[in-house]
Amino acid sequence: MKHILDLRPPRGAPYPVWCGADVERGLEHVWRELNGSSPRRAALVSDTTCDALFGDTLFALLTRLDAAPLRLTFLAGEEHKTRATKASLEDAMLTAGIDRSACLVAVGGGIALDLAGFVAATYKRGIDHINVATSLLAQVDAAVGGKTGVNTELGKNLVGAFHHPRAVLLYTGALATLPPSELRCGLAELIKHAVLRDADLFGELERWAESPAVAGGDLRPGDELIARAVTIKADIVAADDRDAGVRNLLNYGHTAAHAIEAASGHRCPHGEAVAVGMLVEAQVAASEGRFPAADLQRLTTLLSTLGLPVAPPTRFADAAAFVAHDKKVKAGAIRCAIPRAIGQSEPEHDGSWTRTVSLAALERAWEALSCSA
Ligand SMILES: NC(=O)c1ccc[n+]([C@@H]2O[C@H](COP(=O)([O-])OP(=O)(O)OC[C@H]3O[C@@H](n4cnc5c(N)ncnc54)[C@H](O)[C@@H]3O)[C@@H](O)[C@H]2O)c1
Repeated sequence: MKHILDLRPPRGAPYPVWCGADVERGLEHVWRELNGSSPRRAALVSDTTCDALFGDTLFALLTRLDAAPLRLTFLAGEEHKTRATKASLEDAMLTAGIDRSACLVAVGGGIALDLAGFVAATYKRGIDHINVATSLLAQVDAAVGGKTGVNTELGKNLVGAFHHPRAVLLYTGALATLPPSELRCGLAELIKHAVLRDADLFGELERWAESPAVAGGDLRPGDELIARAVTIKADIVAADDRDAGVRNLLNYGHTAAHAIEAASGHRCPHGEAVAVGMLVEAQVAASEGRFPAADLQRLTTLLSTLGLPVAPPTRFADAAAFVAHDKKVKAGAIRCAIPRAIGQSEPEHDGSWTRTVSLAALERAWEALSCSA
């Protein structure tokens, strides 16, 4: 594994981000860095799928490191990212006598990292945790930035805490077993980061998308592209880890995406919804002369080459009610974060990183994309 950056949040300790295939070496290294020679217990938390794939190896390593690991699992799936699952993990840790000096090792996709990170945030008023990201989405997005939480009956991620990990391992070797549909969802977020901040990375992605590997069905983007994408998120989080300013940019595409997900009864996966959401919001900006039409075309081509959808799967009428309920709605107006061009984002005149979009403009963009598909 390679050390790619140290994320320095505005408050709290800086933490290293490592990337690569050799997760045992990576975890051993960060464990020793964090703990020196003093023994410390570990709680190893993952969903049942990731536990079956990676649990034995990591459990054996933590045992060798004298961490007397407690191995805990929960059922995979968004429906299990709940307060009830969190409570059952906490109860198991309390029963096993895990104390405040322990370190939680979260292993898996964004669900495992969000849920286990939230356990770490509140267990005995907060313990350290290390994120081992095994899905592409977690590697380019969820593993860094300190947002943890669970869903409730009323919506996703409604209860949670900001709690940065002490170290992050982007375990890219794990992508060998990740289903293509999950790889595509991660690719949508990776592309989003390039569109926000890095035109060179976008160009690299275009070249990679045309490569024989992708044509042959291998959608794993490689360590270099993953490292560049997570660096963009880390830079943004280092400037604003509480959504007070520039972090709002990471919501690009998400206002439309959340409405698509909700209107589809959550049958449309988040990453696919983000792909379409980015196009809808870029189309809004393009129609106002605030996003180049040529860039919109490049984005459409890249997404469709990678098998991501490029037209809304639902009618605007079905999605409109959910747009109005989005948490990014401010004072009755829809707020969207939209870059100015591929690789280029800037604040509005008032210093804000989001801007007002009317429901009518969103509808026109929605219809334009539906018609051109
Ligand atoms: N905290 C943040 O900043 C942040 C950012 C983006 C998304 N999220 C959250 O992340 C979640 C989505 O994350 P996700 O897409 O990784 O979902 P996920 O955690 O459900 O993982 C997707 C599926 O792939 C499986 N999986 C993971 N790694 C695997 C591997 N290497 N091989 C085989 N299967 C594997 C998982 O068991 C799961 O079934 C959402 O709950 C979202 O709210 C959080």
